[in-house]
Amino acid sequence: MRDSGPPQRFTILASICVLIISSAGVLVATECAAEEVHPGYRILRTKAFLPADFDDEVFEDLWRQWPAEQRRRAEQATPSERRQMMFSEYGMMPSPDDIGGGKALGYVNDGRGGWVMNCLTCHGGKVAGRVILGLPNSHLALHTLTDDVRATKLLQKKKLTHMDLGSLGMPLGTSNGTTNAVMFGVALEALRDDDLNVHLNNPIPKMTHHDMDAPPWWHLKKKRWIYADGFVAKSHRALMQFMLIPKNDAKRFKSWEDDYRQILAWIETIEPPNYPFPIDRPLAERGRLIFEDNCAECHGTYGDNWTYPGRIVELDIVGTDPVRLRSLSPAYRRKYGRSWLADYKPENVKERPSGYVAPPLDGIWASAPYLHNGSVPTLWHLLHPHERPQIWRRTEDGYDAQRVGLEFSEFDELPSTAETPRKVRRYFDARNPGKSAVGHDFPATLSDAERRAVLEYLKTL
Ligand code: HEC
Ligand code: HEC
Repeated sequence: MRDSGPPQRFTILASICVLIISSAGVLVATECAAEEVHPGYRILRTKAFLPADFDDEVFEDLWRQWPAEQRRRAEQATPSERRQMMFSEYGMMPSPDDIGGGKALGYVNDGRGGWVMNCLTCHGGKVAGRVILGLPNSHLALHTLTDDVRATKLLQKKKLTHMDLGSLGMPLGTSNGTTNAVMFGVALEALRDDDLNVHLNNPIPKMTHHDMDAPPWWHLKKKRWIYADGFVAKSHRALMQFMLIPKNDAKRFKSWEDDYRQILAWIETIEPPNYPFPIDRPLAERGRLIFEDNCAECHGTYGDNWTYPGRIVELDIVGTDPVRLRSLSPAYRRKYGRSWLADYKPENVKERPSGYVAPPLDGIWASAPYLHNGSVPTLWHLLHPHERPQIWRRTEDGYDAQRVGLEFSEFDELPSTAETPRKVRRYFDARNPGKSAVGHDFPATLSDAERRAVLEYLKTL
């Protein structure tokens, strides 16, 4: 007789792998283990909440849109090398497990060959050649990808979809690794009433486009208020914004609420990755004391009995780029507070936040570049406000263990090789609106030796 015992555990097992990628971007090893998968993570990787952005046939042909020299290399490559080149060009991450049905980490397989964007397009990244869930994707080239997808679809006589069309009206990100995600939300919410019914004739408000570096997801469990200016109370409903394309009507949208309870529950289980290089422990211990005297009032303390004040620091005190704070009008924030997304509770939204959240610094070694706009490539530069580069370009997998952050080259001007928008997007140019690297001058009161010690301590968080 069949045993009808407890549900079989293998239904929630998946092969979780650590991918080791060489400095040349080549996958050199995978270490896998069967692990239990949180239902929230499984939903995120397998459920299509949006229509597909493109299909396999489009994906396979994207390289044909590349500049001549690069295209020649792709043409001569083997299929697997070419796939790797495409992942590298667009900042797509290989999946660290066998859940996603063969697509990149940031895409769900819709079962018909379609690639459906998910949250991990922006919230799954790699550092020092390691793919990490919840790490902001600091390689993502969303605008370049979307341009190439649109051009390929036109050649293949395929229908354009929301991303192809939306990106004609607004930039998706002007430097790779950052996105205009905040304005996507503003545009999508404009077409909804408080109950999320769609009204396609609503006017789209004036938008201040600007690029943001997503925060790491492992901070979320410490937070009560989310986003750079802490203007929304944490809730699973707030996490659903990204799904607001008009095709998802109010009923369908709300039917996913339980999925998002699970997704939020999973996000709150994510732990920061440990620093993988040597640490000078005595120096770090000296750094801890300096940190606790100079930084902890805003960033909290760490270890078993951690504290996190969740402070919002006034703009004129923190002094970082003002564009993000000013880009959301009180009217927009007020409407958000009245809507289903905020549980119809205006008190869940701050209508006039005064500055930026001092984030927790757990796993801070991994989440370069720094500040809400991703303008500072290493922690050393964060601690030396006057030495920050204006124009820089990161290497793909290089990690600077001296300065703790991205390996990058600095330029006085955009090089002449940056002659097309897709090439310009490979550079971070802090002279552009919303992208300045100024402010957070707090470390300037410390001596060089004190800053060295704090830098060492930051590796341990
Ligand atoms: C196009 C890129 C992109 C996609 C896709 C995306 N996000 Fe984000 N996310 C961002 C950016 C950028 C921010 C920072 C916005 C800000 O602070 O104003 C952010 C902020 C957040 C935050 C706030 C974190 C904090 O500590 O304040 C959460 C939570 C979050 N996203 C969850 C999600 C979920 C869940 C999804 C999928 C349903 C998703 N995001 C899809 C880019 C994205
Ligand atoms: C008065 C409050 C305050 C003090 C003091 C302070 N910070 Fe900050 N810090 C902030 C705020 C606010 C931000 C976010 C600014 C932004 O993104 O525009 C921030 C950002 C950071 C970041 C970047 C975080 C990220 O994820 O990008 C690091 C690292 C950091 N601070 C380290 C320190 C260190 C080290 C000290 C002590 C030497 C310190 N801070 C002192 C308020 C403070």
